This record gives sequence, C-alpha cells and structure tokens, in this order.
Amino acid sequence: MRHILSCDQFSRKDLMELFALTDEMRANTNQFSNSLQGKIVATIFYEPSTRTRLSFEAAILRLGGNIISTENAKEMSSAIKGESLLDTIRVVDGYCDAIVLRHFDSKAAADAAAVSSVPIINAGSGSGEHPTQSLLDAYTIYKYKKNLDGLSIVVMGDLLFGRTVHSLVKLLTLFENVTIYGLSREVLALPDEYVTYLKQKEVSYISCRSFDEIPCDVDVIYQTRTQTERFENTDLEVEEFIIDQSVMRKFSPQTILMHPLPRRNEISPAVDQDKRAVFFQQSHYGMYVRMSLLHNILAGK
Ligand code: NCD
Repeated sequence: MRHILSCDQFSRKDLMELFALTDEMRANTNQFSNSLQGKIVATIFYEPSTRTRLSFEAAILRLGGNIISTENAKEMSSAIKGESLLDTIRVVDGYCDAIVLRHFDSKAAADAAAVSSVPIINAGSGSGEHPTQSLLDAYTIYKYKKNLDGLSIVVMGDLLFGRTVHSLVKLLTLFENVTIYGLSREVLALPDEYVTYLKQKEVSYISCRSFDEIPCDVDVIYQTRTQTERFENTDLEVEEFIIDQSVMRKFSPQTILMHPLPRRNEISPAVDQDKRAVFFQQSHYGMYVRMSLLHNILAGK
C-alpha cells in the first residue's frame, strides 16, 4: 500500500518514472480507460477546492474508476455531529480502495494513514504540505525546461502558510544545483523547518524582500496567493508583490510564470496573454499527473 503524504517520500527515480507515465497518459489517454475498473476512490474535502478535487475526480473517471465524495466534509459529513477524522477514515476505508483527503490540520493526512486500511492521498493538509500539487508543478517545469538540474526558481507570496511551496521546495531537493529565491514579506517568510531541510540537502536558499534581488534570467517564478483564511491578523491581507506586465518586462523571455491557482490580485490578468504565463497549462497537466499517481497506486505492479 502506498500513501502519498509528503514530498520527502519521493526519490528522483520515482519522479522521472511518474513524468514518463504522465507523458504516456497524455499521449494515449484512452489506453488507460479501464485501469481503475471496479475500483472506488473516496474524495473527502474538509476545505474548499476547485482544481484538486475536480482534477482528481476527472482522473478517476478517465481511468474507469468510480467516486464517492463529500466536497464539504466539515459541514456535510458527520464531522458536524462531532465525529473525529480518524473515525470517519476507519469507516470510509471499508467502502473504497483509496481516499483522497484535504483537511485543515497539517497532520491530518499522516494521522489518517496511521489508521487507514487503504492508501491515503494527501490533497492538501492545512498549512503543511500539498504533495500532488508539487508533482504537477515539477512536471510542468520539466515540460517547459526539459530538466530540473541547475534550475533557478523564485517562490513568492505566502511562504509561511503556502503548502504548495512547502511541498515544492522539498521536491526540488531531488535535483542538482537548484537555487531557490524566497521572495516575501518578512512576516510570510518560509518557516525554519523548510529552510533547515533545504540546508541539509545542500540546496541554495536565498530569502529576498524585493524583486531587485532576483536575477532577470531566473528560470521560474512561482507566485502564490496570500492564505488569508489562515490569518488571525487581517492587517496581513494586503498583497505586496504583484506581478504585472511591468514586472514581467524585467525578466527574460525564457522565464516562466507559474501559480497553483486560485489567484486573486497577485498576478494581473493582463499578464495572461504573455507566453511565459503557464499557470492554466500547469493546472491542466494536474489531471494527467493525478491519473498517473492513481494508476500507480491502484493498478500498478
Ligand atoms: C492551493 C491549495 O489549496 O493549497 N490550491 C490548489 O490546490 N491548486 C493553493 C491555494 O489555495 O492558494
């Protein structure tokens, strides 16, 4: 049984195999249309989602599997009656072959995995990790840049609560000579836990407070939304680093602009026409990456 809980569980080989399978999924989607035949996957979401839940569900359906789902588990499941997550998992695991779980507690996926008899796939746990997002992010970088060795990337916005960034920086440690610039306000800086992880893996991490500190030929800009729902202090809501056409003009024609979405005002819609803005393609790739993951977990050898 293979749970997907954190990006520290993957090897470089796992990633390269997943990317190759994803290429195949995209090229020959119909060939996999029975791979989850007879399987039931539960999607249980205690926090809002558009892309993650729908792309997982589309992936399950495209692989010939079936879905049982609760999209607002916080209010529409027995959680509202006081049932604990672990009791819910112990029940739902008897109904299905895998559980895709999004939860507001950063330890939820690991806790669920400890009691589940079926694989748990972490679809975002609080301000902790969001490993499947990072797999699709890495796949997107791979498709546009051909290689992740030697990559230079700016992760920016909310590095404190942004679980997509937490997972992505972990994943990038699998590659050689990666340089990560962390651009945020001081109050939203990357937590020490991740800075230490990067240091241990000998990945260069440079904390920045202004666009001027970022080289113009950086390979990737990875913008994120300020996670206001996790703030107690609403003064933090103002976006400081907005990407608009004037910012994009400073960067090389080869610099790609990514975002896990949803965006608010941190990327101006005027930038969407720029060929370097790849975030909609990124989210489209997500469905295929999730198809590959599900195939590996439920239909693989
Ligand atoms: C992200 C998330 O839920 O962490 N969205 C996503 O899954 N694509 C990013 C966000 O909500 O800002």
